[in-house]
Amino acid sequence: MRALAALVSLAWPLGAVPALDATANSTKYTVLEMYAAAKSGDDVSSPGNVDLFDAAGLAKYLVTEVVVETGKAAERPTRDKGIDTIVKYRIRVRNNMSSSDVNVQAEFSKYVPFENGALVTPADAEMFARSGDLVGVQSYHPPHGDVRYPLQRTFYWFSLNGPCPNQPDGQKSSNCTTYQPGLVPKKKSQVVAGGLCKRFFTKNIPDGTPGCSYYIEKVETAKLDSVVGITDQDCGGRKCADWGDFRSHCSNATLSFTYSGVKYCKEYDFPDCISSCQDACKPQNEVGIPFWTGRCDPARNEERAAMIEKAFGGSQTDSYYTTNPRCDQYGPMCNKPVPDAGVAYCHRDASGVCDACYVPGTTHPASPRPPSQVACRYDLFLNKKLPQYKDFLPKCASSCSGACSLSSESAACCVYIGKCKRTWQQEDWGSCDADCGNGTRYRKVSCPFEDIFGPCDESTRPANSTDCRGDTCPWSKDHFGNWSECDNGCGNGTANQSLICQCPDDCPLGDKECEKSPKPPQPSRPCFPQGKAQGFCSECPAEGGDCTKCAKGFDLQDTSCRRSKRVALATYQVEAPGLSLKSEWLASAFVPAFKDALLGATNVSVDVLNLTDSPAVASLLAARALRALADNSSVYVAVAAEGEDDEDLAQLKTKMANNLDQMAKSLPQALAQHGCTPDHSCQLGTVGVSLLREEQMCPEGQAWNGNSCGMPGPGPKPPGSGFPTWAIGVIVVLILLLVAAVVAWTCGTCKRNQDPRLLA
Ligand SMILES: *[C@@H]1O[C@H](CO)[C@@H](O)[C@H](O)[C@H]1NC(C)=O
Ligand SMILES: *[C@@H]1O[C@H](CO)[C@@H](O)[C@H](O)[C@H]1NC(C)=O
Ligand SMILES: *[C@@H]1O[C@H](CO)[C@@H](O)[C@H](O)[C@H]1NC(C)=O
Ligand SMILES: *[C@@H]1O[C@H](CO)[C@@H](O)[C@H](O)[C@H]1NC(C)=O
Ligand SMILES: *[C@@H]1O[C@H](CO)[C@@H](O)[C@H](O)[C@H]1NC(C)=O
Ligand SMILES: *[C@@H]1O[C@H](CO)[C@@H](O)[C@H](O)[C@H]1NC(C)=O
Ligand SMILES: *[C@@H]1O[C@H](CO)[C@@H](O)[C@H](O)[C@H]1NC(C)=O
Ligand SMILES: *[C@@H]1O[C@H](CO)[C@@H](O)[C@H](O)[C@H]1NC(C)=O
Ligand SMILES: *[C@@H]1O[C@H](CO)[C@@H](O)[C@H](O)[C@H]1NC(C)=O
Ligand SMILES: *[C@@H]1O[C@H](CO)[C@@H](O)[C@H](O)[C@H]1NC(C)=O
Ligand SMILES: *[C@@H]1O[C@H](CO)[C@@H](O)[C@H](O)[C@H]1NC(C)=O
Ligand SMILES: *[C@@H]1O[C@H](CO)[C@@H](O)[C@H](O)[C@H]1NC(C)=O
Repeated sequence: MRALAALVSLAWPLGAVPALDATANSTKYTVLEMYAAAKSGDDVSSPGNVDLFDAAGLAKYLVTEVVVETGKAAERPTRDKGIDTIVKYRIRVRNNMSSSDVNVQAEFSKYVPFENGALVTPADAEMFARSGDLVGVQSYHPPHGDVRYPLQRTFYWFSLNGPCPNQPDGQKSSNCTTYQPGLVPKKKSQVVAGGLCKRFFTKNIPDGTPGCSYYIEKVETAKLDSVVGITDQDCGGRKCADWGDFRSHCSNATLSFTYSGVKYCKEYDFPDCISSCQDACKPQNEVGIPFWTGRCDPARNEERAAMIEKAFGGSQTDSYYTTNPRCDQYGPMCNKPVPDAGVAYCHRDASGVCDACYVPGTTHPASPRPPSQVACRYDLFLNKKLPQYKDFLPKCASSCSGACSLSSESAACCVYIGKCKRTWQQEDWGSCDADCGNGTRYRKVSCPFEDIFGPCDESTRPANSTDCRGDTCPWSKDHFGNWSECDNGCGNGTANQSLICQCPDDCPLGDKECEKSPKPPQPSRPCFPQGKAQGFCSECPAEGGDCTKCAKGFDLQDTSCRRSKRVALATYQVEAPGLSLKSEWLASAFVPAFKDALLGATNVSVDVLNLTDSPAVASLLAARALRALADNSSVYVAVAAEGEDDEDLAQLKTKMANNLDQMAKSLPQALAQHGCTPDHSCQLGTVGVSLLREEQMCPEGQAWNGNSCGMPGPGPKPPGSGFPTWAIGVIVVLILLLVAAVVAWTCGTCKRNQDPRLLA
């Protein structure tokens, strides 16, 4: 009697059991979903003496024990144990709640492993002899319930004992464990019967008596090969039929290996992380079909469980929640909550098992937080159909005046106790349902926390659709827009033509409507900013900024160009009727054409340093004067060429001055080759080329003494000083030209005006 009292007090300590709420019409048994791994042909309809799993537990079992290659014989004809089927049970469980063996996760006994229909540890039979048939559970709590299979929530294995659990299949006719005297009526068989209820009337079973601790409501099976995608693998131009076919014919070389000269394919392996995902485990070593990979990734493990559930149409656990027994009635685990710390609560989790959980954001949160617990389901206390812990609501740190949200711990606490302003929740808008032109986009609008607060006010429901424009209209392939600016602010650059987005109604949002379409090649042409030369720089940002590359013979040092070689500099004037860099095509072709023509005529390869249309001074003073200068107009080109040695430098001077007539003749052709075609109306007729100025320069620190580079003599300007003398020369020449022009013009008019002062 005393012993019995002790047992009872273990199960119901301190008598602090809240009375079952009168409004809750929950069943006495718990409905759960459990899964099994089986072999085709097995009778799976009456499970007994087996271990079952929740979805995540099944995935863990399969990936760590069944499909993993390491440790298995390569030539095995099937998966380990012949497993090719998964079974889903909807199952009612009710253990004898007054048994002291029912002390795991509130409603279960300890888990016992079975092999071949018998207990792996024969001593476990004593529990069934003592307390009758019990459903056991093994829980894997986050974050490392199994170091080989991390998951952010608790998952489970279950054990269901059948008849004669101490004897393996085929030997169950003799020597079976019997119940302790008195546990079942004397006139009944005393042999341990197994927990599967075999009754005619099924309404209130299981009842938790020996021989009736679980009852199968529904059995479904699925082929493992199709659930995990073996049948989507390629077996040489066709889909693999099953595991055996895949094993010998898979075409994916990543998955195959050779053993004793025979090729096999592995479903999954992770040799470096066989025993743990921690420590020395190297993630790159994992190989297998996509379903199994990511075993050390909690998110993938969550997905894998969801995929198993989905293979059977998804989990229904939530729909049994309000009819399953309340967890708050179970001591000692669940009935002593600490409201200000938010701990020692229990909720029925996604697997349907009562598990310890915490409430975040309370006044005196437990520190440290219970490491292996998850936050309680938010409707634990106030679910209208299953209110629990009525007198033990958590004490929230927040005043709970804001909107209902789970985004912070203190806000979440308010949801648990129903003290916040609940409003409609809307997700971000989805993408437009039209590729191009008018379409509609949608968003999900939902009423959150309905279990606690009931339905939302329909009159304030936000819209879930709106007009939108597609962003995958086609770019025109033969029409192009404006030319871009030159991408190089100091010379040799590229400009391209913008694309045109084509919509049925002129693209009100512009190019955005083509954003997602592949871009066709854009026409491009060379460009050379006119009159913007920065010394000897040949590359700088278009929007202005420091030099990034220098012309031939110069080196970039701290953003400025230093002469490091022998260079010859020259300025040419190119003259022709209608020659104007205002013509963009002509300007585009001019520099490459000039370089080609000069190379052809003089065999000197140059970099263009400066390109100007008309002298800057002239444009200021005498636009009228220039117009009067017949039809000819001029372009001025400053170039640099590199000399290898003194002799070469001396020769450059001659070469760069020679054959200019020939060059003038070839220039129009060269221009045409570089895009200055009749289509672009920029052909030139007669062209004249003249050399305005030439200069030889030595590496900085040396001076040209007429036939070689040497130490600077007396009097020359200090090395590296700013404006080159040859450029001053250019300007002088230009000014002279200008004066000539002005004189020519004034004389054209002075004859008529007879103005003596101008003549003078
Ligand atoms: C549970 O009880 C409530 C009232 O107590 C009743 O309205 C409801 O139909 C019952 N549900 C079930 C499934 O019996
Ligand atoms: C029955 O079990 C006992 C002890 O467990 C053993 O000694 C005996 O040989 C067994 N009998 C048979 C028929 O297996
Ligand atoms: C439950 O277990 C207790 C103690 O083990 C036992 O006294 C009681 O009869 C059992 N209840 C049922 C329904 O079998
Ligand atoms: C081969 O298998 C690996 C691992 O699952 C996968 O990453 C890869 O994409 C597969 N290759 C082909 C061609 O399917
Ligand atoms: C797209 O919608 C706008 C405004 O709703 C309308 O003016 C336009 O004609 C529509 N375009 C097409 C192609 O239907
Ligand atoms: C949009 O909301 C209406 C009710 O307001 C609903 O019937 C419809 O299914 C919703 N559409 C989508 C795509 O969510
Ligand atoms: C092209 O250039 C013209 C003239 O500068 C301008 O009016 C037009 O808006 C530009 N077009 C685009 C598409 O930028
Ligand atoms: C066209 O030019 C713009 C501006 O120079 C540049 O940003 C873009 O990358 C270029 N596109 C192509 C395809 O060259
Ligand atoms: C100028 O551009 C052409 C072609 O774009 C390239 O081959 C050449 O090297 C460039 N010259 C310099 C000095 O950047
Ligand atoms: C480029 O040429 C223009 C006109 O010929 C002249 O004004 C300018 O100073 C020159 N710039 C350089 C860096 O040579
Ligand atoms: C042109 O110059 C190169 C070296 O720059 C030289 O090898 C070649 O012989 C020259 N050709 C002519 C025709 O002078
Ligand atoms: C224009 O330039 C060409 C080529 O240099 C030359 O032959 C012609 O005489 C020039 N005409 C005038 C009016 O200067």
